[in-house]
Amino acid sequence: MNIIETDRLILRKLGVDDAEFILDLFNQPSFIHYIGDRGVRTLEDAKRYILAGAVTSYERFGFGLYLTLLAEGQIPIGICGLVKRDSLKDADVGFAFLPQYWSKGYAFEAASAVLVYARNTLGLKRILGITTPDNQGSIRVLEKAGLKFEQMVRLSEDDVELKLFASEV
Ligand SMILES: CC(C)(COP(=O)(O)OP(=O)(O)OC[C@H]1O[C@@H](n2cnc3c(N)ncnc32)[C@H](O)[C@@H]1OP(=O)(O)O)[C@@H](O)C(=O)NCCC(=O)NCCS
Repeated sequence: MNIIETDRLILRKLGVDDAEFILDLFNQPSFIHYIGDRGVRTLEDAKRYILAGAVTSYERFGFGLYLTLLAEGQIPIGICGLVKRDSLKDADVGFAFLPQYWSKGYAFEAASAVLVYARNTLGLKRILGITTPDNQGSIRVLEKAGLKFEQMVRLSEDDVELKLFASEV
């Protein structure tokens, strides 16, 4: 079942059948640099991540990160959705796409649709966004989607400082 449809994209829940795509995405150098190394090295790791991460989030919060596909051809190109972390009061919008699909406006299109969904369907009042300070692409996507920089934050004491953006959606 599709969660969100835009002009060019479909967002739907991740399942264990998407393990091969997640294995590819999570091992992209850009993903490891800007988001982190989730230690997903095998199809089994990817399946475990999907179940423990995305699927658990759908069950616990009613939202999570969604597989993002091109509507034309149903080709998976990335993930986009909402994450609720213990360390932040509100959910944050997250996204990552395979490099061959960058700079086509897909991250903005997906993130904007997630914000509308968060407000209209989930009834969330405030959505956050977090990025490393050097992630110009992500910062641009968040700002273009209407989020504003608030402050620097650390998700845990020994973690790096991140830029926190927020939107009263
Ligand atoms: C960050 C990322 C999601 C951007 O995706 P994208 O699909 O290329 O972004 P879009 O095409 O929707 O671009 C939206 C805007 O950001 C700008 N932008 C995108 N990448 C940029 C970059 N590296 N530097 C500066 N601006 C950038 C675009 O020019 C566009 O702005 P404009 O409309 O004013 O021209 C993508 O590079 C990615 O997946 N990176 C790796 C994972 C990651 O960093 N995720 C975010 C973690 S917080």
